[in-house]
Amino acid sequence: MRPRLSTLMLAALALLALILGGSQSLLPTESPSIANPAPDETDYAAARRRMVAEAIVGWGIRDQAVIEVMGRVPRHEYVPAEVLDQAYANHPLPIGYGQTISQPYIVALMTQELRLEAGDRVLEVGTGSGYQAAVLAELGAEVYTIEIVGPLAEAAAARLQGYPNVATRHGDGYDGWPEAAPFDAIIVTAAPDHVPPPLLDQLAVGGRLVIPVGPVGDYQELWRITRRSPDQVESVSLGGVRFVPLLRTEEVRE
Ligand SMILES: C[S@@+](CC[C@H](N)C(=O)[O-])C[C@H]1O[C@@H](n2cnc3c(N)ncnc32)[C@H](O)[C@@H]1O
Repeated sequence: MRPRLSTLMLAALALLALILGGSQSLLPTESPSIANPAPDETDYAAARRRMVAEAIVGWGIRDQAVIEVMGRVPRHEYVPAEVLDQAYANHPLPIGYGQTISQPYIVALMTQELRLEAGDRVLEVGTGSGYQAAVLAELGAEVYTIEIVGPLAEAAAARLQGYPNVATRHGDGYDGWPEAAPFDAIIVTAAPDHVPPPLLDQLAVGGRLVIPVGPVGDYQELWRITRRSPDQVESVSLGGVRFVPLLRTEEVRE
């Protein structure tokens, strides 16, 4: 018996519904690894390229060596798992103990303003995650980095193990690292309310200190201070910033 026209139409409609709407329900959505796979190195590389285009070059960084290194250092290896999906976003991220990994643009700006040459001896006060130290090391600097929070210092030291040109220390960076001084450059990634005199003392003639200075949680100013002679420095303001405070040993709770 030949099928009636209405039966044929119903079959056609059912087929159409399957094609249009059925494809999602046919996928094994119960498997998150297929429906929503974890990002791989290709995804991170793409996110890093976007970060460099939008937040580094797009926000005015011009130093080609800094741009190239920011496009190479795997920032996602320096952030906690809970915020991995934001590793390449242009804002600071929590790393525990009330501390942060700085915003990518600020890392690039401070690095650019250090005016590094390969082989420069650089002191970093505030290792945090170790990301800034890795950026400095990739630029060919000899890096000395000091962190006041013990567990952060320990974790960063482990992450930075692959860099023979990075020395790490747990301690109060207000006093600098006298045995390794003088430094061609010093970067301070937490804000004191005044420039620590030991850091100025440990700056070589011609050396640059990049440091945020100001009250806790309020407007702070980023400065580049250049030592012109043993008894003369010159300061240039690089604009307003907001950093976590530079702590002293007695203020640290772990
Ligand atoms: C904004 S975070 C630094 C981010 C870090 N440079 C990075 O790449 O992740 C500031 C860091 O400075 C540390 N810090 C604060 N006061 C310090 C001090 N007196 N000496 C050394 N580190 C200090 C904090 O514990 C914190 O880890």
